[in-house]
Amino acid sequence: MPNLSVSYMGLPLKSPFLASSSGFTAKMENLAALENAGAGAIVLKSLFEEQINDQARFLSDQSAEYPENADFLHYYLTQHSVSNYLELIREAKKTVSVPVIASVNCFSTGSWLSFAGDMEKAGADALEINIYSLPLTLEKNSDSIENDYFKVITSLAKSLRIPIAVKIGHNFTNLPQFVSTLKSCGARGAVLFNRFYQPDIDLKDMSIVAADPFSHKGEYLNELRWIALVSSMVRGLDLSASTGVHAPEDAIKLILAGARTVQLCSILYTEGAGVVKSFTDGLENFMTEKGMKNVGDLCGLLNYSNIAHPDKFERVQFMKTFGGKS
Ligand SMILES: Cc1cc2nc3c(=O)[nH]c(=O)nc-3n(C[C@H](O)[C@H](O)[C@H](O)COP(=O)(O)O)c2cc1C
Repeated sequence: MPNLSVSYMGLPLKSPFLASSSGFTAKMENLAALENAGAGAIVLKSLFEEQINDQARFLSDQSAEYPENADFLHYYLTQHSVSNYLELIREAKKTVSVPVIASVNCFSTGSWLSFAGDMEKAGADALEINIYSLPLTLEKNSDSIENDYFKVITSLAKSLRIPIAVKIGHNFTNLPQFVSTLKSCGARGAVLFNRFYQPDIDLKDMSIVAADPFSHKGEYLNELRWIALVSSMVRGLDLSASTGVHAPEDAIKLILAGARTVQLCSILYTEGAGVVKSFTDGLENFMTEKGMKNVGDLCGLLNYSNIAHPDKFERVQFMKTFGGKS
């Protein structure tokens, strides 16, 4: 029987398949079903920086000028607050024995950083930081925006003992260099890529609407290229693939490209937690067919450094594929 266990940021996992951060991982019955189906770890839904800041503001405002607002604020914040999130971590730890990764969705180096230590104390085995910075000013250049990411990770890495993964989008000028700097700042993992909320336009109503939050088949190809490149250029940091993984074959390809773990989200919403079993079965069958014993032997086997023609991942391929088309 092939061995599916992997180490992700130093955490021993019984399979490389993670439930990605979303509302799906906020429900204990889903967590139990994910573990039963063979998930290697669970990334809890994110706590948003805005929620943490609101709670901090509420606590400092409590004795101040607007006592009539306090009840409402208190009601709102008890629904969405840090303490609820810490409770979610504790509950998850009681429910499953696989590692539980807490998640924070943030955009700045704000005071929220101090709450990360509470997540560690609540039992989180690791922290995934989803940094979503949408530049809305012409004053900041890309260096200064990237520096904000580095400040967040440096500060967290100094204060936490648990490993930190950074979940990012793909819009960086030099992605391998950026990921390498995240590693120098103390990140142990990088999740490539986040799939951001996308606005669309409803032509009938002439209004802005939210596009489909769920991914579609084939969307994994973007991270496949970048995981193949980054895994060969940045050593000593584990990559986790996220976006568009809808079939075991997608996941196997991402592992061959260099992903240490593969995250599932949309497929959990459409198929349910039990679908993870088809991923572990698919990986086992593939490894048996190829005579491979350990998932570690697959990881990065076809990354940029390990293939005979690395230019398959390069710009020249674009010219070969599209240059002659008329
Ligand atoms: C309904 C929904 C909720 C999500 N919530 C979060 C979240 O709280 N934090 C986060 O980092 N990503 C969140 N995501 C993004 C997913 O974790 C994942 O990165 C993205 O959906 C791409 O993976 P997929 O193609 O498998 O869906 C959410 C996605 C969906 C569809």
